[in-house]
Amino acid sequence: MLNRRELLKQSGLVAPFLLTGSVSFAAQQAAMIVHGRVPHNAETRLDRLVESWITPNDMFYVRSHAPVPTVDVDQFRLTIDGLVKKPLTVSLRELATGFAQRSVVATLTCAGNRRSEHSAVKKVGGVQWQAGAIGNAKWSGVTLRDLLKRAGLKEGAKHVWFEGIDQIKRSSGVIPFGASIPIEKAMSDQGSMPGALVATGMNGQPLPPDHGFPVRTVVPGFIGARSVKWLGKIVVSDRPSPNHYVATAYRLVAESTPEHWAAASILYDVPLNSVTCLPAQGARLKRGVVSVSGFALAPASDGHTVRQVEISVDGGRNWSNTAFTTPAVPFCWRLWTANVTLRQGMTDLVVRATDSAGNGQAENVPWNLKGYMFNAWHHTRINVS
Ligand code: MTE
Repeated sequence: MLNRRELLKQSGLVAPFLLTGSVSFAAQQAAMIVHGRVPHNAETRLDRLVESWITPNDMFYVRSHAPVPTVDVDQFRLTIDGLVKKPLTVSLRELATGFAQRSVVATLTCAGNRRSEHSAVKKVGGVQWQAGAIGNAKWSGVTLRDLLKRAGLKEGAKHVWFEGIDQIKRSSGVIPFGASIPIEKAMSDQGSMPGALVATGMNGQPLPPDHGFPVRTVVPGFIGARSVKWLGKIVVSDRPSPNHYVATAYRLVAESTPEHWAAASILYDVPLNSVTCLPAQGARLKRGVVSVSGFALAPASDGHTVRQVEISVDGGRNWSNTAFTTPAVPFCWRLWTANVTLRQGMTDLVVRATDSAGNGQAENVPWNLKGYMFNAWHHTRINVS
């Protein structure tokens, strides 16, 4: 009989204090812009974000609506029910040993990333994210498809709901965070990319507490809100989840009336986006040749990747191509760099991406009440002497 620690070790699950023990709190804080401590909300500083294709766990943005829940790993069970032939109750040991283990690299980004740019047009509530609520990690666990196949789908199964065990205080009461995805996405396995992973690992380590220990979903290509942390329940249904974060939030509306919320569609795919990480906003630089670098991300549900990233040093009048430093991998961001010649004065560096289907970013995007999906051309204003 394995004791708890041996079981966790063998299954790749280690108690959270062991995995945070090696991380220097000061080092992590230096890499992050902290928007709130409890619940924890922090984004990666752009100069640190562009250092590597894989974002280290201690530098990965955190978006939480409630404090990290406490989990008893011995008692923990994930349930799968609803429109299934055989409801399942799965322990961490069964997740680790009873299903094929898969690893995928995928970028996760918050629908509210770049919200501060919507706010610059007209103030929006919520965490004022700059552009660092994004990261790329290697996630490991079991595919949602394998779990659902084991449970057996019943006729009429159209959506898969996820429910966290966190407790979010809202004016209407305390609710868990929830999400849902269409059944086609849940059951898909495009090449080497499953539609969704029920993940227990992040970059070769057990999930850190902030990122959903012991289990979360990772839905490659979908906004981060569909990747539910501290996952406790999966329900198969004929309709999208009634949870607030599907039924009301994460929709694009310009006015807050019940009609507007109901008419707006549920957000799934991430938008095409690109951001300059270096130089930083407001940097003071000497004229001459300067290295510029950043990231770009394409929506990947149709298999598209980032094809081109262009940079302008004159506010968007003239453009030149940047060079990629990482390959085009579906569901992952692409890092790019360029050398540009800067002349004296205030300079507006602008970046925009085009995906492999030929879709480009727009110069401006419509404002929305919750400040989601900002993906207009990205401007970095610097002072050159
Ligand atoms: N899951 C739970 N249970 N609670 C949450 O608050 N936040 C969601 C999602 N999953 C959230 C959650 C949002 S909005 C995002 S963007 C991602 O988690 C962020 O994941 P990360 O904190 O691991 O980067």
